[in-house]
Amino acid sequence: MYFNKYPQPENFSFVKPTGLDVENGSMSISERSFKFAFKDCGDDVYQLVVKNKVWPKQYSQAELSEPEGAEKLGRASLSKRKGLQISNEDGETVLGSREGRFFGVSGNAWIMQFDYEKDLRFYGLGEKMFGFEHTGRSTKFWNTDAWADFPFESLAEGRPDPYYVSVPYLIVKNGENYVGILVNNPDAVFMHMNPNVIIANQNDADDILGTRFCIGSADGLPEVYFIQGESLADLTRKLQKLVGTTPLPPVWAFGHQQCRWGYKSYKDLDNLEKKFTQYKIPNDGLWIDIDYMDGFRVFTFDNKLFKNPGKEIGKIQKKGHPVVPIIDPGVKVDENYEVYKDGLKKGVYCKNPEGGDFIGFVWPGATVFPDFSMEKARSWWAAWVSKFVSDTGIIGAWLDMNDPSTGSSECHYMLFNDGKDKHTTYHSQYAMGMQQASRDGFLMANPELRPFLLSRSGFISSSRYAAIWTGDNASNRHYLKCSIPCTLNLSLSGIPFNGPDVPGFGFDSNPELAIDWYKTCFMFPFLRNHSSIGTLDQEPWAFGPKIRKVLKHYIQLRYKMLPYLYNLFMDQEKDGDPILRPLMYHFKHTNRVPLDKIDDQFMIGDSLMQAPCMEEDEAKREVALPKGKWLDVMKRQWVDGGKKVMAKKEDETTPMYIRDGAIVPMQVGERKTHENTLDDIELHIFLSKDNTKAAEYVYRYDDGQTFAYQEGERTRVTLKVRQLRGVVKIDVVDRDLSGGGLKIRPVLHAPGAKSVVFNGVELELKAAEMLFCGSTLKVRKTKAVKA
Ligand code: NOJ
Repeated sequence: MYFNKYPQPENFSFVKPTGLDVENGSMSISERSFKFAFKDCGDDVYQLVVKNKVWPKQYSQAELSEPEGAEKLGRASLSKRKGLQISNEDGETVLGSREGRFFGVSGNAWIMQFDYEKDLRFYGLGEKMFGFEHTGRSTKFWNTDAWADFPFESLAEGRPDPYYVSVPYLIVKNGENYVGILVNNPDAVFMHMNPNVIIANQNDADDILGTRFCIGSADGLPEVYFIQGESLADLTRKLQKLVGTTPLPPVWAFGHQQCRWGYKSYKDLDNLEKKFTQYKIPNDGLWIDIDYMDGFRVFTFDNKLFKNPGKEIGKIQKKGHPVVPIIDPGVKVDENYEVYKDGLKKGVYCKNPEGGDFIGFVWPGATVFPDFSMEKARSWWAAWVSKFVSDTGIIGAWLDMNDPSTGSSECHYMLFNDGKDKHTTYHSQYAMGMQQASRDGFLMANPELRPFLLSRSGFISSSRYAAIWTGDNASNRHYLKCSIPCTLNLSLSGIPFNGPDVPGFGFDSNPELAIDWYKTCFMFPFLRNHSSIGTLDQEPWAFGPKIRKVLKHYIQLRYKMLPYLYNLFMDQEKDGDPILRPLMYHFKHTNRVPLDKIDDQFMIGDSLMQAPCMEEDEAKREVALPKGKWLDVMKRQWVDGGKKVMAKKEDETTPMYIRDGAIVPMQVGERKTHENTLDDIELHIFLSKDNTKAAEYVYRYDDGQTFAYQEGERTRVTLKVRQLRGVVKIDVVDRDLSGGGLKIRPVLHAPGAKSVVFNGVELELKAAEMLFCGSTLKVRKTKAVKA
């Protein structure tokens, strides 16, 4: 597989208008004939499938839920002359295929071409290191093990592509209209977003291609979904529903996670627990990497490091820290090893072309791989996971090396489905099979508990099973800056639960860098401190007391705002909105404040906006502030948006802006432990002086760990807030206390407010101070009231 070379349209033959029979769903290209089906799935989701004997079946195991019973809007059409057209509700064309170049083939490869105009913008593509907007890029989708697949020198400051996760999903923005193109194909999909012609890694050649953009695949059934969205939010919700929203994880998955390649023993876990307690830094998961295993044999423990794993893990977990072990898919070839022997007996391993088990070389040496394309291998794996969970008491796991990483063994010799299917049919969905089977294993062992799985690789719809961390990055500013667009594009591509290794995996971090990573990522959907073996320590206390204080503050703040994060995730599960969003998700791009390429600012939900300082020596940075009023937390002032403003870089603060009318539930006081109290919250109300608009917020909580919420065991309180003539009225307009009672402590960030009335009763206001993002904010609080 070449990563820097792509199929080019010049080598394809295209269907001519005369060869396209729309009525009968057939077309001919050269001497070959194809059948096609074009379907309106409802809710502005359209599906095109082209059939031919070279693509005998759909290999994709993506779990797609087409909208059921949704209105068929008919905004997409196929015609002889124009090919495929997608229009908006006013009938204007948003996406149009190239005349006479709508669909083409080159052997088993296929391509679709679309008209390009210079105002088009491109986003999505799942996990890429490119930046936020993708005009001019060419890319492939093929899960890689970046550190093994790219020359080491090119990684530190590079943009390795393809990366660990393959989600062939392109968002096309045309003015204020959006079309999402999802290629449901596990083979090596490619996309060209109107690139210059590049002679790989050298200078641009003359652009002989004119203007077009295209999608295609080296092989495999052309099954493409086109989704029309009236806004980015509308589009993202439709996409997320199609690929499946992410099931609500347990609350602890939103806490701070502590990991390192090198943590391996009960002693390590015990030390970590003591340190977090000593420094009063909240933390949830404590993670152990490959060295805990007996000779890297999956589902085993080295008995010198853990004398009694179940008991020792139990001890740590009782203190409130879930222990999260790494699980690799590779199984050591060893005649005396139960797991290997069992898999051999059940015939679950991938084959080589000679009918033997395919051998890779990973941590344990010679290794075989469960063939997750087969149901029998998935249930075999699930049973081993289930046993591991029951024996150890773990409630989450870390699924690594599932790209799949085969070490120095060429993976194309790894065949699937008992050797019948070639490698390309399943490569990029391998991780998803492992995720599915692992989740099944957890649920077999503990049907009532929501498992938390983190995976390195993934595919379309894999966020139904696991969160993604963005692989092996480096402790430097390049990866720090890449982390925002990477997480944003993953969030727009159907993988909302994700985050990078903070403050960087490879190479040594340093105090300034660690602070900037934490300030940038402290509210990312997933926050884990992880570093490579051989690097300097980088736990929150590793850089001395001054730095510890700053990191501690941001970790505490994450815990303080955990009710907000948790509620955002409930919205995600229900409606499909991601946690981290580009500014464009909520605001219009204007010439004065252009938003379409902003990759160093982001929204957390619809209320908070961050513009972190990520350059080493910058004294200040520019911030695009969309229209409306904002509380500038650093300046402790309400400021007008609709313009660009400057923010200073300071040691303890970070540029954070809160939207006028925002209602943000937070835990009470300063967080010193990971213990969450979700039934007694501070309700932070942000209102500029003249804001008289009513705002609404629905606060929910549940037990945070089981599926009981699906049976209705969840408290749900709808609050309406309005400021009129200096009085802030807070009314509970709807209440369902099925999950337990709720105490609310209103906290006003409202300079114009003279009094506050809760459900008709005036509450006494007391002046107070609150440290938030390093800034001391003056607030007014009331006593706790029952919702
Ligand atoms: C590769 C993973 O990406 C990394 O996070 C992990 O520490 C190493 N494998 C060792 O297990």
